[in-house]
Amino acid sequence: MNGPASDLGFSALLEAHAAIDDALLLHEEALLLLDVELAIELLAAHGRLLAVHMRHEEDVVLDAFRRVPPVKKWPVVLYTGQHEKLLWHLARMTQSTLQLRALSGSTLRRAAITLLDLEATYKHLHEHHDGAEREGLFPLVDHEATLQAWRDRVPALLAEWRAALQAEELLFAAARGRLDSRAARLNGA
Ligand SMILES: [Fe+2]
Ligand SMILES: [Fe+2]
Repeated sequence: MNGPASDLGFSALLEAHAAIDDALLLHEEALLLLDVELAIELLAAHGRLLAVHMRHEEDVVLDAFRRVPPVKKWPVVLYTGQHEKLLWHLARMTQSTLQLRALSGSTLRRAAITLLDLEATYKHLHEHHDGAEREGLFPLVDHEATLQAWRDRVPALLAEWRAALQAEELLFAAARGRLDSRAARLNGA
């Protein structure tokens, strides 16, 4: 599927976004079913995947982007600032998810609703960030011919990303099974 190293653009790294979003949704499924331990594990997995992708962007893509003539609408600081903001929200969500352990009954259910509200803001930030990367950062670095040395690192980064995702697949598969049976029990099936 992949061509030689030189043919693979920076944009190939954007495949990470869907998987990162999906891990978060799986965590929210666990929240919805009040499976607190699973929700904690899945949020951690989402965070690990996000960390790998952000490292690739900051070490290589943004490093390359600093060599592109500046475009007013898309400054480097926009992207680094969005990353910081996402990580700040994620830390808050992680703390709130851990706090669910101490709760039960209606208190637990209402705390889960509050957490889902908090996560809605985080999901909007992701959506906004995805748009800014697809419209600004990635096309700009992909269209700059002088960045070949950075572009040549993309296949290795992509392989590293896919290995990181693969490392979470067992957890995701087990989580899907566990959530399906929990939901079936709730529905009296
Ligand atoms: Fe990204
Ligand atoms: Fe990013």
